[in-house]
Amino acid sequence: MIKKGIILAGGTGSRLSPITKSINKQLLPLYDKPMIFYSLSVLMLAKIRDVLLITKKNDLKLYKELLGSGEDIGLKISYAIQEKPRGIPEAFIIGKKFISDQNIALILGDNFFYGQGFTKKLLDEKRLKNGAKIFLYNVKNPEDYGSVEIENDKIKNIKEKSKNIKSSFAITGLYFFDNDVIKYAKKLKLSKRKELEIVDLLKIYNKKNKLFFSLMGRGSAWLDTGSPENLLSTSEFISTIENRQGLKIGCIEEIALINKWINKKNIIKRINFYGNSTYSNYLKKLISHG
Ligand code: DAU
Repeated sequence: MIKKGIILAGGTGSRLSPITKSINKQLLPLYDKPMIFYSLSVLMLAKIRDVLLITKKNDLKLYKELLGSGEDIGLKISYAIQEKPRGIPEAFIIGKKFISDQNIALILGDNFFYGQGFTKKLLDEKRLKNGAKIFLYNVKNPEDYGSVEIENDKIKNIKEKSKNIKSSFAITGLYFFDNDVIKYAKKLKLSKRKELEIVDLLKIYNKKNKLFFSLMGRGSAWLDTGSPENLLSTSEFISTIENRQGLKIGCIEEIALINKWINKKNIIKRINFYGNSTYSNYLKKLISHG
């Protein structure tokens, strides 16, 4: 069972420069809310309440301002610093104390997930006891991501941004691991690009036949936020759905309320905190029905 989650929200966001020259990528807007809300809401949908947010030293203050201790959204949020973007697996070294003897979920702060049945999938998969679980999504451009080849329902080959892979499955930025992940992360060596590589970590699990996967179906969305075009198209996707339904995607207060972690009072606090905005109006509507 997974009860704790890490959000990795450091990095340089260099592909979005100059936008990210002075602003942390994961604080950029995806339509009507900061990007980080979407990854945080994935953990919340998985009913994970104990969260460690890892970011750069300079950005720590901004995240603390936005999310605080997490109390008002029913969470316990702790914070840690990643000095340099030394790779995704470093999250497990930085988060060693936080993870303690538990299993752990990791989500990259720039990932966007959406789709019917996604919450159920999260709740099913978080029962993981041993090994690691990755979530795969069919894409046109697997060479832009970590990717896996699957044969007879087994993972045959794992590669990071490679053209030499016979697969259309990208590894999304959501991972569930057992507690061995700390030990394995510590064993990793820096790659040519001077990073600890998430695929190297996954390879360790795969060698032990302990790497499992879950396919996100074509009725779901895993969208990119890595380039200006993608940032815009993901925002447009969110705007289209939200404005059609009148329901918000990634509204952390709403999820906390549905999970019965918070009450009306907490929502009012958040409304006062946000001030007058369409987001606040949505929160007001949430509590006006009783
Ligand atoms: O989004 C899924 C993809 O994420 C996976 O398919 C790839 O296997 C994985 O390597 C990663 O690829 P990216 O090209 O997106 O990696 P990037 O270096 O851009 O980092 C992804 C996010 O993690 C980004 O929001 C910044 C954060 N990050 C990254 C590194 C390497 C950190 O906070 N610290 C780091 O050291």
